[in-house]
Amino acid sequence: MWSTQVAIIGAGPSGLLLSQLLQRSGIASIVLERQSRTHVEARIRAGLLEWTSVELLLEAGVGERMIREGLVHDGFEVAWADTHHRIDLKGLAGRSMLVYGQSEIERDLAEARAAEPGAVVWEACDVALSDWDAPRPRVTYTHRSVREEIRCDFIAGCDGFHGVSRASVPPDRLTAYERVYPFGWLGVLADVPPLSDELVYANHERGFALCSMRSRGRSRYYVQCPLEDTVEQWTDERFWSELRARLPRHYAARLVTGPSLEKSIAPLRSFVTEPMRFGQLFLVGDAAHIVPPTGAKGLNLAVADVRVLWRGLVEFYGSRSTQLLDEYSARALQRVWKATRFSWWFTTLMHRFSEDRFAHRLQLAELDYLAQSSAAACSLAENYVGLGFEPGRCQE
Ligand code: FAD
Ligand code: PHB
Repeated sequence: MWSTQVAIIGAGPSGLLLSQLLQRSGIASIVLERQSRTHVEARIRAGLLEWTSVELLLEAGVGERMIREGLVHDGFEVAWADTHHRIDLKGLAGRSMLVYGQSEIERDLAEARAAEPGAVVWEACDVALSDWDAPRPRVTYTHRSVREEIRCDFIAGCDGFHGVSRASVPPDRLTAYERVYPFGWLGVLADVPPLSDELVYANHERGFALCSMRSRGRSRYYVQCPLEDTVEQWTDERFWSELRARLPRHYAARLVTGPSLEKSIAPLRSFVTEPMRFGQLFLVGDAAHIVPPTGAKGLNLAVADVRVLWRGLVEFYGSRSTQLLDEYSARALQRVWKATRFSWWFTTLMHRFSEDRFAHRLQLAELDYLAQSSAAACSLAENYVGLGFEPGRCQE
């Protein structure tokens, strides 16, 4: 039997970051991850960090490569009906974003945690949580065919939407809110120069498209697709021609194409669980909430949860005060619901939902309004950079 202060389920960005911050604060933890380290580091997911996320990664001592290789973005483009408009994030909301892939963050964090042998147990199967309502919870798992047990003070459920942590809570103890969108995102990664220096979000009658990037030589592109579609139905040629068709001519003409390195389809969903704490069990990141990727909020919300929980644990082990831990759920949920609203709004504005031409005309009118009204652009910018720890600057 093992003993630790905090047992962390899941070595995604939230689990590894929490473990790294706790270690630097002198608090012991063990992370249990179902997958191998190679698998986790190869997953292509988020690409865009809010500045408060950048700051926490720096505070965790894993920001050196991120600062060297990340691309600072002061704005992004919104395109529709053969026109486009720049949202000046820096000018309107006083903050920039950083393009730095989630897989790179995972690599930096996994490497930092590898300095402490045993801190992360990769390929831990059949993880089970018990006694999380009592003072000394237990987590059991199988590693290299041996059943192991950890006794701890707290469990952090950082195991994503399909994890075991939320599933361990009896349904009558939680309330779940959910919206499933009637389409997915087909994503392609390719070693071609990005379309533009900044991200381009496009609303088109054929459906939404997003031109993002990972570096100056690597692009990440998405097109809205039917949920029933499979990756096999989308050859590279079909993808590039569909993406080109959804961009204003000015951009379409300069799109550089090439063989895909990765291609995947992700469904879009909004999901919030309340509360986010059950006795000694805390749900963190995607285990408690999911947003559609349109607003680039998922990873940033996970990092924000980690910040609140880490501070609560530091306070508890420093002074035995449970005040911050007691406030964890309410504090996290305040931010979660605002990001849920923003992600839903931006998704609704940018995607094709049906053949309803009235709805499409309303989208075009709202996009036109965004381009003409600094108040509207400001609201978008303020939400996009992250509603956070200081009031927005738009009203200044
Ligand atoms: P996860 O990353 O899901 O990590 C959970 C971990 O737990 C995984 O490693 C999993 O293997 C492990 N696990 C699961 N079950 C168990 C178990 N039973 N036992 C042990 N381990 C388990 N967010 C942004 O902020 N910006 C973006 O630009 C952005 N773009 C995105 C694009 C796409 C296509 C997608 C799909 C998502 C995007 N997101 C974005 C969302 C972001 O990737 C997630 O919000 C983020 O990964 C959440 O981190 P997490 O650590 O909470 O959960
Ligand atoms: C990405 O680069 O993967 C990305 C960027 C912005 C989003 C979603 C995904 O809104």
